[in-house]
Amino acid sequence: MFKTASFYYMSGTGNSFKTAVWAGEKLKERGCKASVIPMEKAALKNTPPSADNLTGIFTPTHAFTATWPAIKFALKMPRVKKAPAVVIACRAGAYYGPLPLPGMEGTACLIIALILLLKGYDIRGFAGMDMPTNWLAVHWGMTEKHAQYFYDKTKREITAFIDTVASGRRIFKGIPSWIMGLALIQISFMYVIFARFMLAKIMFADEKCTSCGICAANCPYGAIIMKGNKSKKPYWTFKCESCERCIAYCPEKSIQAAHSYIIILCWIVFGLAGAVTSQVVLPLHMSDNYITATLFQIAYTLGFFYIGYHILFFLTRFKPFAWLFSHTTFTKIYRRYHQSDVTLRDLKDGK
Ligand SMILES: Cc1cc2nc3c(=O)[nH]c(=O)nc-3n(C[C@H](O)[C@H](O)[C@H](O)COP(=O)(O)O)c2cc1C
Repeated sequence: MFKTASFYYMSGTGNSFKTAVWAGEKLKERGCKASVIPMEKAALKNTPPSADNLTGIFTPTHAFTATWPAIKFALKMPRVKKAPAVVIACRAGAYYGPLPLPGMEGTACLIIALILLLKGYDIRGFAGMDMPTNWLAVHWGMTEKHAQYFYDKTKREITAFIDTVASGRRIFKGIPSWIMGLALIQISFMYVIFARFMLAKIMFADEKCTSCGICAANCPYGAIIMKGNKSKKPYWTFKCESCERCIAYCPEKSIQAAHSYIIILCWIVFGLAGAVTSQVVLPLHMSDNYITATLFQIAYTLGFFYIGYHILFFLTRFKPFAWLFSHTTFTKIYRRYHQSDVTLRDLKDGK
């Protein structure tokens, strides 16, 4: 049995954090001291993993794989000799009418476990855990009643998982999900290298924003800056990981995803893409080279998102535009979600 446990989490809306806390509580009952630490604050060099210490990585699933901060974190972990480790990927449990359905972690556990294995860790187990779905820029948040179903289910499952590991057995869950994840690997790949940068560039604060700065102060990646002279407004940089913390915890529910803007922008970007490709790419003979052409298209699309976002940010500083964009987005009417008893302080400091 381990003497200590270090559970590192990345968590936007508290699901992965809470799952790590439940795992820690179970170990505590068995006389083991568990720390639940935010990845962005972890000082790995001070606490090198050892045989007596169970290392845990807790990450949400983004696009059927682990989040980029969790992958980067695993890559930075020190090399060890046979230190025990577990990986947990929280995924989107959702209700379809009266029916609760599981999410899909895909390659999330697999990729982190593989990195740790190559670093010398002894992987004791991994599993996907269903917690309420949290992609608030895209869909509505779950009701408390439905969320409670997933809290109870995951608390039971993580407790059983940790019990198994603590009693010296190994547990690997989710084979159908790995297979699906491997089949969808190109989506995960495109998301990690490309799409996650674009998602930040549709967020804005509407006319209800009080410039309190809570979103910027609590962004785990320092991706939000408060910009402006008279009244400062949040501006999302390319560092954003779409963890959804800002939109989930905004006290005024003022943070929105600009759906009408994104439709117009995509129409311009992808409508013009054909013309630009034939006028610019073809004359430069880029189209002969698949890699050059792809890189050009990525740079071109990101460039458009960057410029477009500056225009959106500028316009939404004026109340009529802020009102217009906020009344042509679904997030205005969507219910918001974060894990019910996780505060911003919990997420920032860990346990
Ligand atoms: C950008 C984004 C992509 C997501 N992709 C997936 C996915 O592919 N599969 C899945 O089951 N859940 C997906 N989710 C849902 C989250 O993984 C899930 O709600 C998780 O419990 C959130 O944990 P957190 O509160 O610790 O961030 C996604 C969420 C976001 C914001």
